Amino acid sequence: MSSTSVPTLTLNNGVQIPQVGLGVYQTREGAEVERAVSAALEVGYRLIDTAAIYGNEVGVGKAVKASGLPREDIFITTKLWNAHHAYDAALRAFDESLAKLDCGYVDLYLIHWPLPMEGRFTEAWKALEELYNSKRVRAIGVSNFKPHHLEELLRGAETVPTVNQIELHPMFQQKETRAYCAEHNIVVESYSPLMQAGEALEHPVIVDLARQHGKTPAQVILRWHVQSGLVVIPKSANPERIRENFALFDFELSTDDMQAIEGMERGVRISADPDTAAFK
Ligand SMILES: NC(=O)c1ccc[n+]([C@@H]2O[C@H](COP(=O)([O-])OP(=O)(O)OC[C@H]3O[C@@H](n4cnc5c(N)ncnc54)[C@H](OP(=O)(O)O)[C@@H]3O)[C@@H](O)[C@H]2O)c1
Repeated sequence: MSSTSVPTLTLNNGVQIPQVGLGVYQTREGAEVERAVSAALEVGYRLIDTAAIYGNEVGVGKAVKASGLPREDIFITTKLWNAHHAYDAALRAFDESLAKLDCGYVDLYLIHWPLPMEGRFTEAWKALEELYNSKRVRAIGVSNFKPHHLEELLRGAETVPTVNQIELHPMFQQKETRAYCAEHNIVVESYSPLMQAGEALEHPVIVDLARQHGKTPAQVILRWHVQSGLVVIPKSANPERIRENFALFDFELSTDDMQAIEGMERGVRISADPDTAAFK
């Protein structure tokens, strides 16, 4: 077992979240996800990001148990799917996720998408507050929320979300949402941090920095997320890349390096726009 310890950030309720985790979107239930999570835990990852819609919560839970690590050393995130934006439905959906994970409690439960056209995320949020108050989850948060969605949520909320998980990479840096979250003490978690292995990995700024630092393009991008104060959850189902994506703590990007990456912003969103995304 690796002794590498991953830095953590403190959420607004005092809970610590590891700054680097494994995302398991598009990782098949069963042997594939179990292999990926086991490989990650072996390397030193302590945060696993799944969701009900990924269909792989059973395998995530099995790999966590098989690791032999104390449950409290591992941070498990899962998400409420869009079909359940109602109080009772959200509580039932949570119970199903927890039964599949079979891990006692969930560390972080997120509303996956706001679905503003339905206008029911505030009702779903009440259910998440109930889960938090009854200690079935250690923290609650949201995903894909723009500032105006957060504003609406906060108007009726007892509990401020701890996290907003959003698409974020060098070509889509989400400055406005990050500023809003910073103001409200909400940690931002970057999803699709490698742009789903898209053009950011081949961008000359990244390729050049990778050469200068003797690291890979993915490592440079992930290090930029870490130094930007974000939580980052790269997905890989390949044990070598899982290891590569965690080897981020033996080099540092300079202020100039960070600024060069900031100059890559292009407003390129690869996922759906949360104002119009309505999938169920
Ligand atoms: N909340 C949301 O709505 C939402 C949406 C999307 C994603 N997420 C979360 O964020 C996680 C990460 O996002 P993502 O899966 O969309 O994209 P990503 O992590 O940016 O990219 C994943 C892709 O990059 C490849 N890859 C991984 N490491 C690499 C490396 N070192 N070099 C080259 N290619 C590499 C992977 O292939 P291999 O597997 O073959 O390595 C995969 O094709 C997801 O797994 C999920 O947990 C959340």
